[in-house]
Amino acid sequence: MQDISVENKPKEQKLWGGRFSESVTDVVEKFSESVSFDKELYKHDIMGSRAHATMLAAQGLMTTSDRDSILQGLDEIERKIEAGEFVWRSDREDVHMNIEAALTDMIGEPAKKLHTARSRNDQVVTDLRLWCRDAIDKILARIKHLQVALVSLAIKNEGLIVPGYTHLQRAQPVLLHHLLLSYVEQLERDAGRFINCKDRLNYCPLGACALAGTGLPINRFMTAEALGFTAPMRNSIDAVSDRDFVLEFLSANSITAVHLSRLGEEWVLWASEEFGFLTPSDKVSTGSSIMPQKKNPDPMELVRGKSARVVGNLVTLLVLCKGLPQAYNRDLQEDKEPLFDSVRTIMGMLEVTAEFAQNISFNIGKIESALPAGHLDATTLADYLVKKGIPFRTSHDIVGRCVALCISKCCQLLDLTLDELRTVNPVFEKDVYQFLGVRNSIKNFCSYGSTGLECVAEQLNFWKAKLGFDTDKGQ
Ligand code: ARG
Repeated sequence: MQDISVENKPKEQKLWGGRFSESVTDVVEKFSESVSFDKELYKHDIMGSRAHATMLAAQGLMTTSDRDSILQGLDEIERKIEAGEFVWRSDREDVHMNIEAALTDMIGEPAKKLHTARSRNDQVVTDLRLWCRDAIDKILARIKHLQVALVSLAIKNEGLIVPGYTHLQRAQPVLLHHLLLSYVEQLERDAGRFINCKDRLNYCPLGACALAGTGLPINRFMTAEALGFTAPMRNSIDAVSDRDFVLEFLSANSITAVHLSRLGEEWVLWASEEFGFLTPSDKVSTGSSIMPQKKNPDPMELVRGKSARVVGNLVTLLVLCKGLPQAYNRDLQEDKEPLFDSVRTIMGMLEVTAEFAQNISFNIGKIESALPAGHLDATTLADYLVKKGIPFRTSHDIVGRCVALCISKCCQLLDLTLDELRTVNPVFEKDVYQFLGVRNSIKNFCSYGSTGLECVAEQLNFWKAKLGFDTDKGQ
């Protein structure tokens, strides 16, 4: 939606004017308005009004000709908003009253029937649920796009062995595509959380009115169905009170943001001179204004950085909600900016991470020269001794002593002669060399989900099929 400035017009009577003899002060008006940000909801507000007017006419609460003028008026308002011709007024407070008042300006009397059996309390939360539903679909598409980018990167680098880390210390060798697919798994659970959230939020509050429902003969099932909701919400007080769906959505956003932040951290680290495992292309890097040699992986640093605001927005909402009595409280107006910001941010993070994945190359030479260090094959050697019948705790100790010997000799396990190994323990035989070195180590992995070549090939096939890769041509 384009940016439309909020314009002030001479004061008009509020929609609740009857009871009031004075209008609010400018300070209060400026402080309370929400149209400057909730105009984001215009499409969903109009959608809800269309369904509501149609239901009111079907229930005999307005004539079909009133309904038709309302529907035509709403079409025209939507057109104007999208053409940037609509004037948003802060004296009309929020998106709901801006649209309703503009409709009244446009079609007169029939517009005054639209708010029958409806309150802004059920209206705003209906809009918000519809908005979240659409936002989740957009996020899901971006998650899939990133998964495809990561799987493509995995395919491009199939078979490359990299050091695996725990505590950021050399641990065991892993296949790079195994590592990349670990991020794809995380994203799949993220998507699952968004889908669950969407299923749970897809219930219709419209018709709950202020909090108690109405004595008028409305049909909430009809509006729920027209808006694609699973059903109307069962309890009108609950319908207008809670923002748990926003909390859940922001939690899902936060978990995804944390996943992306960790990926960002890893890639920033790998792009450093010290690691040197990957190089981002110029298309996704930036330079320094003072140091001519610099090439920085800024997009992934910003992914890491922007996760902070996504998490912060969740905390804002939690704190916002925690002290509220049932039912609607004006505090709830504060739910929108953190929500909109989180969604905008997470979408950008997903997009830029995919872009980065498409524009990095792994430095085979640097990675391979880094592999011998750190005794990555030590655990495989312990497994070798277990295969010889030695209890694991004992084999752990034997290999520990072999590593100590290596450290004293400044060499790797593979460099120890059989005699040297036998000085540690006579159990070693010639076949030990089939277990030493990162390549042999990788060959020995065979457990389900492990970094063994066949195990990772199975995982890769799973993702190719799931994400619709054409196996002959690639994605
Ligand atoms: N702008 C309000 C919000 O976002 C709409 C509902 C206002 N309801 C009320 N009774 N003042 O929450």
